[in-house]
Amino acid sequence: MTKTETKIAVVTGAASGIGKATVITLLEQGFRVSALDIDTEGLEELAHSPSIEKYECDIYTTNVSSRNECHTTIEKIFEMNGRIDVLANVAGIARSEHMTKVSEESWNQMLGVNLSGVFWCSQAAIPHLIKTNGSLVNVASCSGLMGQAYTVAYSATKGAVISMTKSMAMEYIKSNIRINAVAPGSVNTKLVDNYSIPDDVDMNLIKPYMGFRGMAEPEEIANVISFLVSDDARRIHGAVITVDGGLTAG
Ligand SMILES: NC(=O)c1ccc[n+]([C@@H]2O[C@H](COP(=O)([O-])OP(=O)(O)OC[C@H]3O[C@@H](n4cnc5c(N)ncnc54)[C@H](O)[C@@H]3O)[C@@H](O)[C@H]2O)c1
Repeated sequence: MTKTETKIAVVTGAASGIGKATVITLLEQGFRVSALDIDTEGLEELAHSPSIEKYECDIYTTNVSSRNECHTTIEKIFEMNGRIDVLANVAGIARSEHMTKVSEESWNQMLGVNLSGVFWCSQAAIPHLIKTNGSLVNVASCSGLMGQAYTVAYSATKGAVISMTKSMAMEYIKSNIRINAVAPGSVNTKLVDNYSIPDDVDMNLIKPYMGFRGMAEPEEIANVISFLVSDDARRIHGAVITVDGGLTAG
């Protein structure tokens, strides 16, 4: 096992969007980053991108909905580095569907990635994070805080991530680990590019989620994650920080 003084961050969903921006931000902050994603090609593209080639970034193809893959990858990262200081659970999928048309496969996949993925990676990483007084950040969504039509399955996973964040924060309140969540509004990523709304929805029910301030860029969410794992956020534990341009204020 290699021991390093450099702090080690693990980021899931690292091949795209908020995860990729988080990898870059944490590398710039001096972390060595382990980037996890199911998308091997996207990870390789990240690892070879000129903006990060001067930093230490290791890539791991991992399907976060598999307990075995999460535990195996986290143990490999610990074996290689001798420590883990940060886990950012960013991987996620979204789908807009009429509730009555959600298939068993779609429901299970949504829960597998967005909810079980956060749980399994956290379960594997927390024992290591406790040893380093580390920090864990889950990416939830404002749709876990407000009722959102046509995304019942997605919203259920994000509400559960918020509840899980608070419960984990309480279970480990006597350690020095910090556990928080960010809840973004709309962010300009592939998830939104690939998002298609069924033709026959009532647009009046969707308007409340549009907000007034447009979409955030992934770097704006990554900056908040980077703040939450920094010493400047040392009193923040069990919090859900909305990053939604005021969407959930009204
Ligand atoms: N984009 C938004 O508007 C928005 C709003 C609120 C919350 N979020 C949340 O932010 C997180 C990141 O989303 P994004 O917008 O950057 O989307 P994105 O599609 O750009 O990135 C998501 C990444 O997760 C990866 N992923 C999907 N399934 C996986 C699996 N089984 N195992 C490992 N990796 C997997 C994808 O390959 C992709 O690289 C998600 O949890 C999403 O729910 C996004």
